[in-house]
Amino acid sequence: MNIIEIIEKKKNKQALSEAEIAFFVDGICTGSIADYQASALLMAICLNGMTAAETAILTDKMAHSGDTLDLTALSPTADKHSTGGVGDKTSLIVAPIAAACGVNIAKMSGRGLGHTGGTIDKLESIPGFRTTISENDFLEQVKNIGIAIVAQSKNLVPADKILYALRDVTGTVESIPLIASSIMSKKLAAGADVIELDVKVGSGAFMKTPQEARELAAAMVDIGKKNGRKTAALITDMDEPLGTHIGNTLEIKEVIATLNGGGAEDLRTLCLGLAANIIALAENIEKESARRLAEEALRSGKALEKFKQMVAAQGGNVRYIENPALFEEAAFAHPIAASQSGYIQKTDAQRIGETAALLGAGRQKMEDSIDFAAGIILEKKCGEYVAAGDTIATLYTNQKESLAPAAERFLSALTIGKTSPQKPPLIQGEVL
Ligand code: URA
Repeated sequence: MNIIEIIEKKKNKQALSEAEIAFFVDGICTGSIADYQASALLMAICLNGMTAAETAILTDKMAHSGDTLDLTALSPTADKHSTGGVGDKTSLIVAPIAAACGVNIAKMSGRGLGHTGGTIDKLESIPGFRTTISENDFLEQVKNIGIAIVAQSKNLVPADKILYALRDVTGTVESIPLIASSIMSKKLAAGADVIELDVKVGSGAFMKTPQEARELAAAMVDIGKKNGRKTAALITDMDEPLGTHIGNTLEIKEVIATLNGGGAEDLRTLCLGLAANIIALAENIEKESARRLAEEALRSGKALEKFKQMVAAQGGNVRYIENPALFEEAAFAHPIAASQSGYIQKTDAQRIGETAALLGAGRQKMEDSIDFAAGIILEKKCGEYVAAGDTIATLYTNQKESLAPAAERFLSALTIGKTSPQKPPLIQGEVL
């Protein structure tokens, strides 16, 4: 078999065989296929697509390119994955809610890149919190307290690490078969019985239209089910950031507020929806009953208790969760005032994510370091009325020189107008 023939076949819009896909995945892992050849095939896939059968094979070969986790002894287990967004801290609320309802959460998460945040960075902003623990300790923790969230182990789906790095620099991220296989290979290798997906749609998401988001959700749910996992997806808005806090420590503070019964309404609604789906699938019960259990876990403080148990088990200082005022604040806070009166018609999620990255909350390259205290608090959300001079948001950073470009980027994200906007619904659909 020959990689040039495989590239040409996809260039000519033909479907690849199982043997050809296996040859490709094996070749990138062993290094027998050069980066430029892999990149050429990725671009051909990006332009000409893959059939559902090809996508399923690619996912399977990637999932088995490294270690896989066996969680059968801990059943029912659940995992959750968002396709990436701004202010999306749902995992840190959904996982403790589900765990408080008896569903074991053994979750591996990623770091933020570009304008999107990552769960692992957020957790590491809690002093002492360890995101790298041995597989044994990880499984033992789930057995003991029902919840652990850790960084992906080095050898979990090594094929995705190689392909994702190439896609990131070759303009081939936005492809439904490539995103579906990247996400689902990691979910399959991580071993949970239930996989709940949150497919984001809008300006801050990879999928810009509801139709694309539905296609991606359907592709991933199909792969999960074909592999014997109970899989479902919500399609949710990412035209504006989720909740009010963006940036690592700030998002942890919003998580704590939500687990204490407060927090922004959109964030709470989405977390309850995702948690209810997980509980319903894991426990084989009606969605309505699952929702009541989720609401009760939040209301009673049991979800907050689970979160604290996880923080303690992974070495984090629980005093910060009990008293968020202990978190170190950024040296500089810069309010952004409304230049005119009117309704906030748009707070473009991607540009707001870029603003947070400029302030130091995100990274452009994986090796960049981040400023945990940096970020944004939105005082007003899309649809609200503001009078000229009202504070719309406050920018936080430890790098004073970043304030001017960040403020400029933030203002470019904002549209204020005379009429109340038609906001897209938060939950736009479901794929079961
Ligand atoms: N998240 C992933 O893990 N992979 C993608 O391709 C896109 C988002």
